[in-house]
Amino acid sequence: MPNPLKRPSRPGERSANGAGANGSNGASRGAQGVEAAKEGGGGLVGWVDERSGATGFLTGMMFRKVPKGTNWFYTLGSATLFAFTAQAITGVFLAMYYTPSPTEAYESITHLTNDVWMGEFVRGMHKWGATVMICLIFLHMGRTFFFGAYKYPRELNWVIGVVLLILTLVMGLTGYLLPFDQRSYWATVVANNITATGPVVGPYLADFLRAGPEVGATTIQRFYAIHMLLVPGLIAALIGAHMYLVVKLGTTAPPWLKAERPKNARKKTEVG
Ligand code: HEM
Repeated sequence: MPNPLKRPSRPGERSANGAGANGSNGASRGAQGVEAAKEGGGGLVGWVDERSGATGFLTGMMFRKVPKGTNWFYTLGSATLFAFTAQAITGVFLAMYYTPSPTEAYESITHLTNDVWMGEFVRGMHKWGATVMICLIFLHMGRTFFFGAYKYPRELNWVIGVVLLILTLVMGLTGYLLPFDQRSYWATVVANNITATGPVVGPYLADFLRAGPEVGATTIQRFYAIHMLLVPGLIAALIGAHMYLVVKLGTTAPPWLKAERPKNARKKTEVG
């Protein structure tokens, strides 16, 4: 018979009898596994943990509480993260064969598609993955909007999300030019002209992106640097901040879930 006066142990903590907080549930078993690994003395996990405290952080993150009623819509953020990771990995392989020059870009991509083993597949994954990521990010934004997750105290995470959305669209724009075929060339000319019509900063931004009087050699190099280095770096850093806030602030409960009334609270009675 458990002692009712004793504070129950939290997930990741060991209780006196060695069982996790909730007896035999999966989360506590997982936490016990981490604990066991930490106590494994000379083990690699124990060695790293002693020097970094990483398992404490990971246990807190992996076994944190989530509200009742969470559903498949809550997986859209993780799905976006997965799409970004897939883009980063396939992008690395594409960069091994791609040459950012107006005379060689198209040829290097044709070579990759036709001659390199799995080249067409990896290129296809990257191309369709971009569309998938953009669809997922909009769906995830819709979920957080309709569930009211942008409200206090999560406004900052919403703002970070907006920047992530803009950066994801910049990835799409800068990546589109890289094959340097007729379609990508003229689409970039059009996009650049539209940018130039923007108020105040529009013309300066268009000049910066074009990197010269015409869309050409300098543009492709600039787009490549932005697409390969600048924006993915920013996205990765902002995803880190986004995730930190998700873990710190917790997940918003679905709006249809009513707050639970404390057991002894009296029902509100109509007066008059
Ligand atoms: C690269 C893009 C993005 C990634 C990888 C990402 C990832 C995530 C993940 C994994 C979560 C926690 C799970 C979930 O609620 O789905 C989350 C939560 C959240 N995201 Fe994003 N997100 C991205 C973009 C955005 C955008 C565009 C917005 C809005 C403009 C946004 C706003 C939020 C908010 C407010 C939360 C907290 C949700 C809650 O407390 O219920 N995110 N994000």
